[in-house]
Amino acid sequence: MELYLDTADVSSVKRLHSILPIKGVTTNPSLIAKEKKPLFDILAELQAVIGVDGQLFAQVIANNAQDMIKQAQALTKRFPSLVVKVPVTAQGLIAIKSLTELGITTLGTAVYGAGQGLLSALAGAKYVAPYVNRIDAQSGSGIDVVNELQTLLTLHAPSSMMLAASFRTPRQALDCLLAGCEAITLPVDVAELFISDPAVDAAIDKFENDWKKAFGKLTF
Ligand code: E4P
Repeated sequence: MELYLDTADVSSVKRLHSILPIKGVTTNPSLIAKEKKPLFDILAELQAVIGVDGQLFAQVIANNAQDMIKQAQALTKRFPSLVVKVPVTAQGLIAIKSLTELGITTLGTAVYGAGQGLLSALAGAKYVAPYVNRIDAQSGSGIDVVNELQTLLTLHAPSSMMLAASFRTPRQALDCLLAGCEAITLPVDVAELFISDPAVDAAIDKFENDWKKAFGKLTF
């Protein structure tokens, strides 16, 4: 499976990249805007942290196919292995189709429905990103969309894969992996929740205290 961090915060990526087996970093316009630095500068810093083999994702901001294609070309000219995120709208589908013909790898993003996700895969998107928590937050079921989309991709677009996104809890991410998602992207706070658990800390404290009582120091 592929594990990504969903952030444009370089220092968080530095710290978590040393702990977690992450394959790369996904960004979106809101995450970039939070950093208040030019897009290409942030992408260059992120690429330096994750290394040449680390996979970067960045999203087009234009809302018409022609400009989406131009932005995708500008991104991949500067970062040749970058995956371009394209919102799955009517214009986005035109752009994904053209970009696929141009040999530019895309991810269909802002996916709220299984049919919408399938269409982006049929247009040529390598990755499809359902927004699990945002679907849950509007009284839908993120995991139902993920399950349907997984079946649809397996049956009708096997060369595309789901990269499930938008999580607030580790449980949401685990449910996607159990449903067969081959890739997930975690926001920093959710990634932190995976690796810090008060019960684990308490268990380790007890081991240390028991050891210190018996032997004084934490050495053999
Ligand atoms: C994915 O493509 C998006 O960048 C992101 O995961 C949306 O998630 P959010 O709901 O955490 O903003």
